[in-house]
Amino acid sequence: MEVARQGTRLDDNAYRVLSKDHVQHQTFGMRVIAAFLLASSIVADARARPDIAPVAPFPPPAWGKPPDTEDESMEQAKAQLGRYLFYDTRLSGNGSYACASCHQQERAFTDGRKHAIGATGEEHTKNTPTLTNVGYASSLTWSNPHLTSLEDQARRPMFGSGPIELGLSDNANAVLSCLQADPLYRTLFGEAFPTKAEPISFGSILSALASFERTLISFNSPFDRFVYQGDENALSPSAKSGMRLFFSTRLGCSECHSGWNFAEGTRSLEEPDVAPAFYNTGVPRDPNEPNSRAFKVATLRNIAVTAPYMHNGRFSTLTEVIRNYEAHGSDGTTGALSLRPFFLNGKERDDLIAFLESLTDQSFLREQTFSNPFGGHPTCPAK
Ligand code: HEC
Ligand code: HEC
Repeated sequence: MEVARQGTRLDDNAYRVLSKDHVQHQTFGMRVIAAFLLASSIVADARARPDIAPVAPFPPPAWGKPPDTEDESMEQAKAQLGRYLFYDTRLSGNGSYACASCHQQERAFTDGRKHAIGATGEEHTKNTPTLTNVGYASSLTWSNPHLTSLEDQARRPMFGSGPIELGLSDNANAVLSCLQADPLYRTLFGEAFPTKAEPISFGSILSALASFERTLISFNSPFDRFVYQGDENALSPSAKSGMRLFFSTRLGCSECHSGWNFAEGTRSLEEPDVAPAFYNTGVPRDPNEPNSRAFKVATLRNIAVTAPYMHNGRFSTLTEVIRNYEAHGSDGTTGALSLRPFFLNGKERDDLIAFLESLTDQSFLREQTFSNPFGGHPTCPAK
């Protein structure tokens, strides 16, 4: 299967995302106001129903909300429910694990491990990817160009067995009965799926998880404040130098890590049909990974908090990642596209890292509406 594609060459386009014109076209102010109005209505709503935790406002203040929201009028209610499900350890075979066990907010929804470890202790072959802006991704997981919907993706950790992630296959019915008996979920599912005779089903669970994931939007890093909000001091001089390197033809980073999300293959409402993007970056292959050497272009947003890096967690620091790119082109292993080898002196490497660090959005890592909404540990039967 040919998954690798030739990328668009962005030499003249690389700075498009940074141009002031482009920023003005975003009518940023109007979107902020809209988001504020929405947010205040949600706050008011949360006050009326204090026992149910809120989610982030839709649509996000910039970029438009992610495409693919199947039932838009219910999106808010589904996301609210999805937030609970994402943290609900009852969704695992042994009651110990949730999506959030591997996708941890303070690490931009990664786990700090080289390879993920499932509920039963089984080791995955892959590194847990960030869920930053995942609603805009044109394909999901490191190497599957055909997995394109968050609803389909969520089924895999729940029911998959190669490897076991949540391990729900054997006791799925018991878990469902337990959730159906939980008064909190009777309310939340009922609000999210009001037309269904039995709103609490696995179909509803997948749909709600996907809605929650679409709220995981990050665009408030120092880079964003510098480029989109005109704060000249948001970036250090070192980060500014690193930014020039990143967008230079000499390094070519932005040819693949392109656009506002630093990833080719990012969709938007205006452009919902973007092809998934896979490249071979010369990351040494694991023996248990048979065919592919091309992997999805990862977003670099929040990259400083998502170590270790690459599909197989091969590199533990950004310096190691950059050194791999520097060396590349010389080992002759490039598949789809020849990365150019380049030389960086120590200061340049530090600058590039300072720029990558400026993509960390602290508010995303602390955003209350992404956090665990359960006071304690949810149990079966529900207490
Ligand atoms: C055992 C740890 C673990 C658990 C639990 C887990 N995930 Fe993941 N997740 C991973 C790994 C590893 C990958 C990458 C898989 C691959 O590339 O084959 C991944 C990939 C994803 C992706 C694709 C992201 C992208 O940009 O490509 C999404 C979305 C996702 N997980 C959501 C979830 C949801 C929702 C749950 C709960 C139902 C969940 N995960 C539970 C480890 C986990
Ligand atoms: C040819 C396209 C391409 C170019 C050019 C490129 N990258 Fe990447 N980048 C990728 C792909 C594909 C991955 C995922 C590779 C993997 O998982 O094995 C990746 C992964 C990364 C990661 C790790 C992401 C994660 O979540 O683990 C970092 C950091 C990174 N690139 C930085 C850079 C920098 C800095 C440059 C410029 C020196 C650069 N990239 C140039 C395609 C590219």
